[in-house]
Amino acid sequence: MKDDLSRNGLIPAGGRCCNWMACRSARDARCFKGPILRGLAGRGPYFHNGSAATLLDAVHFYDMRFELGLTDEQKADLAAFLRTL
Ligand code: HEM
Repeated sequence: MKDDLSRNGLIPAGGRCCNWMACRSARDARCFKGPILRGLAGRGPYFHNGSAATLLDAVHFYDMRFELGLTDEQKADLAAFLRTL
């Protein structure tokens, strides 16, 4: 993972980044460049492999992967927000 991150162009020379999926450091979240979220509603399926068919599926992924504990209503609200971008 470190070797992959060292080639992503986001880490300053001599900088170090954790495997964020494992440690979730707020400082190291900067090491990842996420896609532009503008116009999301019209370009599903989501993620590089199309693994999330809908925005609700994408929100569900984050809820499960990072154990956010979102309620169904919160997930629906977040998906509704993402649809407005
Ligand atoms: C609840 C919080 C989050 C939401 C709702 C969210 C939402 C999304 C969505 C909808 C996509 C798909 C975009 C597309 O396919 O065009 C996406 C992709 C991505 N996000 Fe997030 N995101 C969240 C948190 C994060 C965090 C904390 C990071 C980095 C530490 C991150 C990094 C990424 C990356 C790298 C991708 C591309 C993944 C891929 O193509 O497989 N996201 N995000």
